[in-house]
Amino acid sequence: MTQEEIKLALRGTLIHAPAAGDIEVLQDALIAVDNGGRVAAVSGPGQPDYGKLEHMAREAGKLEVLSAGEYLLPGLVDTHVHAPQWPQLGKALDRPLDEWLMNYTFPLEARYADTDFARRVYENLVHTLVANGTTTAMYYATIHLEASTRLAEICLEKGQRALVGKIAMDNPDQCPDYYRDASTGQGLDDTQNFIEQVQGMPGNSHGLVLPVVTPRFIPSCTDEMLQGLGEIATRTGCHVQTHCSEGDWEHAYVLERCGKTDTLSLDGFGLLTPQTVLAHCNFIDDDDMGVIKERETGISHCPLSNLYFSNAVFPAREALDRELQVGLGTDIAGGANPGILHNCEMAVTASRAREDGVNADLGATERGTPGARIDFREAFWMATAGGGEALGLKVGKFLKDYAFDAIVVDTSVADTNLIIWEEMDTGDDILQKIVYNAERRNITRVWVQGEQVKN
Ligand code: GUN
Ligand code: FE
Repeated sequence: MTQEEIKLALRGTLIHAPAAGDIEVLQDALIAVDNGGRVAAVSGPGQPDYGKLEHMAREAGKLEVLSAGEYLLPGLVDTHVHAPQWPQLGKALDRPLDEWLMNYTFPLEARYADTDFARRVYENLVHTLVANGTTTAMYYATIHLEASTRLAEICLEKGQRALVGKIAMDNPDQCPDYYRDASTGQGLDDTQNFIEQVQGMPGNSHGLVLPVVTPRFIPSCTDEMLQGLGEIATRTGCHVQTHCSEGDWEHAYVLERCGKTDTLSLDGFGLLTPQTVLAHCNFIDDDDMGVIKERETGISHCPLSNLYFSNAVFPAREALDRELQVGLGTDIAGGANPGILHNCEMAVTASRAREDGVNADLGATERGTPGARIDFREAFWMATAGGGEALGLKVGKFLKDYAFDAIVVDTSVADTNLIIWEEMDTGDDILQKIVYNAERRNITRVWVQGEQVKN
């Protein structure tokens, strides 16, 4: 590359997880970003191009050197966020999912008919997620075309990579009169219009913000709606997102209504594509996993939300062993914390609870699922590269041609709980400590597609 082609170069310690379970710690590495915001080169001391690249970047006035105590990590990927539930974060956690929807969530989501309210909430949400290091988010909005488009615009304005869906829900048996698509046809038309509006937004020609076909979940939708959305997904090639086998109630409802599992039913409606992300999947069986693998469909594992609303925890170990594409999701506001690093910790913790079991009345050998644990390396892969794979986007790794979406974690900020002991902590230890104790205050800089969005 030439001097003119360098948008930015950083030198310092890079940590990433190029494959599940594999951490690379690159000390004093140099990463160069091209004018398109992509990684152009990653080089280390002793490699042939290192000196030349550094010299070029310095000459161009584009070289930034990280301080001691600063670490460059890939940006965090949140594969499951309910944007309109942001005002509900940290409350309303006492009811089972079906009652929670009817009593708290649908009344709140109905308010987004008011686009001023939507703008106020969505600006605050996107700002907060970026500040927590979420460089890519996959959002559910509401049934409202206008407010959903507002969310997409706000992500673009704030420079967050986003996938946004206008929710489709038309089943009068499961959706209240005050919060339902006016008709199946209207829901399908609004979805089609939403896709066109997002794709045509001024400033979005590179597709930083992408539209998503979004049946809320099978119970909320009629078969006609699910079929129609499957056709839109096939015709447009857009992403798809929905909830799948989240808890006992949903799992049983779908078996009863469709005569087969969520996964197989969604597949029958043409909704399992390589661009699909299924949230939760806690009750998927071996056959379901096989179909998900065959369709190259992604899964959003939402560990904190699972512990409150799912009656079970996602079999993360089994999914990783089968090399499924698994990302992490906050599931705001079913999950009461906006941070993906916090959900990394929860993914490890939930898997440890699965492994040992939690009921002391059972004997040690009947209590748990032996071998069910995942470790921080695997959770961090899900939070970055795994999320990228689930979304089919080249994000989450420091590799040539991947988007430069990155965060600086600074362990030297005031009042930090994240403390590194140089003489005792290895690179892996540092990442583990980041997963357990990094907070918003430690995430001091954030880039998306080479543009700095937090400083
Ligand atoms: N299933 C259908 N809608 C929702 C929702 O808003 N949150 C969660 N966690 N599950 C759902
Ligand atoms: Fe959800």
